[in-house]
Amino acid sequence: MSRVEGKVALITGGASGIGLSAAALLAKEGAKVVIGDFNIEGAKEAAEAIIADGGEAAAIFLDASKEESIKAAVDFTVDQYGTLNVMFNNVGLTNLQKDLDVVNIDLEEWDRLMNVNTKSVLLGSRFAIPHMIEAGGGSIINTASMSAFAADSIRSAYGASKAAVVNLTKYIAAQYGKNNIRCNAVAPGLILTPAAKNNIPPQVLDMFEKYNALSYHGEADDIGYTVLFLASDESKFITGQTIQVEGGHYLSNPTMPDFNALMKQGK
Ligand SMILES: NC(=O)c1ccc[n+]([C@@H]2O[C@H](COP(=O)([O-])OP(=O)(O)OC[C@H]3O[C@@H](n4cnc5c(N)ncnc54)[C@H](O)[C@@H]3O)[C@@H](O)[C@H]2O)c1
Repeated sequence: MSRVEGKVALITGGASGIGLSAAALLAKEGAKVVIGDFNIEGAKEAAEAIIADGGEAAAIFLDASKEESIKAAVDFTVDQYGTLNVMFNNVGLTNLQKDLDVVNIDLEEWDRLMNVNTKSVLLGSRFAIPHMIEAGGGSIINTASMSAFAADSIRSAYGASKAAVVNLTKYIAAQYGKNNIRCNAVAPGLILTPAAKNNIPPQVLDMFEKYNALSYHGEADDIGYTVLFLASDESKFITGQTIQVEGGHYLSNPTMPDFNALMKQGK
């Protein structure tokens, strides 16, 4: 028996990166997967690849900034496969140009990121929960970020929006646990998705590697496998948690790499 045999999953932002990995792994382990993305061509390609591999999948246009679009994707999933057992609220945006420090942040960008990164999680859950109750339970998984826990010189809205995802995850878990609905989040550190590979200069990648406890970068499948675990009944007693998948980047005293360098110099 496969790990999520017969479960029906909707994934937002499933055409690329973390969502794409989760879609492929869930389908490989027996789930019927709906890939929602505003890159509909990418979503269709992802679904076709799953079908070519012997899995079951469908694609739908989804704009995570719009309530009616999220509802339509949930309705489509239930029409297509009869139920909804796993909701992966994964879409999230960042903007290095406009999401700045608190004095200089563009306030329209603050609203946009709060809407897409946090409200879409609320809405995806709101529309999925009645179907999950009807199905006798389900698993909601949200993509947070390590930016929820550690501050940066810019990206104030991103960090605040992801911290809200961490807390909303607890509220959903507390409110619907008695309906056999679990809700957890995954907080990725830097993950080399196509977007990250294209946008982050090599010096910055080296900097991240230096501060990881492990000596390599994270990949989309590192998050995909965590999502698979949280979607499966293997995690049936875990709820309200945010699992940090970050290579030990935030594990130690932040001065440790510099301290080690000093020790090497014999100072
Ligand atoms: N990659 C990282 O290092 C990293 C680290 C921490 C958190 N995250 C979070 O992981 C999630 C996925 O990121 P990723 O790195 O896989 O990104 P990605 O760019 O590879 O994929 C994101 C997908 O979401 C889709 N999308 C974007 N906006 C959308 C919208 N409004 N409606 C519908 N679809 C939309 C894109 O078309 C794309 O297919 C995000 O929530 C992000 O904040 C990523």
